[in-house]
Amino acid sequence: MQHLVGIDISTTAVKAILIDSRGGVVGSASTPVNLAIPRPGWSEQDPADWWDATVASIRALLDRLSLLPKSIVSLGLTGQMHGAIFLDALGDIIRPAILWNDARSAAQCAEITDLIGEDRLREITGNPALVGFQAPKILWLREHEPENFSKVRHILLPKDYIRYRLSGEFATDTSDAAGTLLLDLAQRDWSDEILSKLSIPREWLPDVHEGPDVTGHVTVEASQLTGLPAGTPVVAGAGDNAAAAIGSGVVQEGTGLLSLGTSGVIFVPTNTPRIDPTGALHAFCHAIPGAYHLMGVILSAGGSLHWARDVISGHGPNRAELDDYDTFIELATHIVPGADGLFFLPYLAGERTPHMDPTARGAWIGLSLAHRREHMIRAVLEGVAFALRDAWERMKMLGMAPPMLRIVGGGVKSAAWREIIAAVLDVPLQRLAMDEGAAFGAAILAGVGAGTYQDAKEAVAQTVRLLGDQEEPVRELVEEYEILYCKYASLYPALKSSGVWEGAWPVGRVRSVSHRRSK
Ligand code: XUL
Repeated sequence: MQHLVGIDISTTAVKAILIDSRGGVVGSASTPVNLAIPRPGWSEQDPADWWDATVASIRALLDRLSLLPKSIVSLGLTGQMHGAIFLDALGDIIRPAILWNDARSAAQCAEITDLIGEDRLREITGNPALVGFQAPKILWLREHEPENFSKVRHILLPKDYIRYRLSGEFATDTSDAAGTLLLDLAQRDWSDEILSKLSIPREWLPDVHEGPDVTGHVTVEASQLTGLPAGTPVVAGAGDNAAAAIGSGVVQEGTGLLSLGTSGVIFVPTNTPRIDPTGALHAFCHAIPGAYHLMGVILSAGGSLHWARDVISGHGPNRAELDDYDTFIELATHIVPGADGLFFLPYLAGERTPHMDPTARGAWIGLSLAHRREHMIRAVLEGVAFALRDAWERMKMLGMAPPMLRIVGGGVKSAAWREIIAAVLDVPLQRLAMDEGAAFGAAILAGVGAGTYQDAKEAVAQTVRLLGDQEEPVRELVEEYEILYCKYASLYPALKSSGVWEGAWPVGRVRSVSHRRSK
């Protein structure tokens, strides 16, 4: 039996899975990674931690299995998109990676728009300049850390740093490269025009491949560390959302994926580049050669729930009990839709779709003495669903909303949250038998690269299976949420025009507190 490995460098953990050629998950292992928020609006991770976690996850995976590593025919990579990893001439890390949900580069986005022109930028890349994307982070480094910038010789995306450590190759794939703002979307290669206008040398960037291409092989050194056979082909793979779409069988127009991880995503494949004229939906390449997708991204979906659990459960006596998300969400199921007039805006890291506003901030609105933490949790679940509805509305406006959405990610394990989302979007949701998300898609792409399957569509037909029937929206809830969504939709414009967020983000100020010495 042939086996395929998928590795996912997510914001919370590095996961390694091993599947057989029929899509059976033979084993998986996950190692958590830390996230640093050195200042409000900043978000960083150490790429060396990703590598250590990758080695640990692959080792744990192989140790648990009795199979001979020789049956592994190929490995595929996926991970969080948009991050900037800066390496020097020796391939050493210069500074922590600046991540997809980092909002420091608003000034650089304006600069890019000025240098290239808004229309031309959209024409070439399919997108406007947004702080999450990689290009503005490169300009930020040049302006704010010139000493670090002078050492840069390679710029990589998160999963491609792991590729470099595994195979010694500098390479990326089209779906992830599209999230840099440096890719010519139609040509599926770096845009010389953009690179020259931004003065970024092309040789600093990795070679661009299609998702199933083999980009290199596991080196002897990486083999000794991980236990993977030296010479195992390493396949280009995809950004986490395109990989999750492959792993869910979302490979053709008319289908769609809702992913509820740290971010929340609605992903719709397109046969040709379809561009949202407002820029609220991203237009990127799919991991299938020649294909594209539109994607609405909300920055804090599962991230909002994670944050709420930390602030609500704190370090009190219920901490251990509420650490478990099922227990935490269960509290909210006793509360009526609308949480008795309480709303939550999930803009904890600013927002992309639809506001494209790094200065936006989160809020509970409508608190009263009658509200308890249960209401606050319900409002978070509903607020994330309303934010997804904003992205869904854009899809509908472009005529691209599919009749049903497949769902993946940690958040969709909750039946209560699924019920809320199905009703708020008024769309049936379909779960998958293998809820392994992006790592599963990376393993499938590895199989295409190794020749186990003819192409991604055949691979998906052989490996992706659905779980149960699609879940229909509950009619009474749909009606209730329609009214509540209209109220929710009025909150962002009201808060924005009030000026309450002006000058507040990113601040990076630290209030000095004089500590009284204990005797
Ligand atoms: C997509 C995006 C996020 C990250 C999270 O544009 O920024 O979904 O990929 O992993």
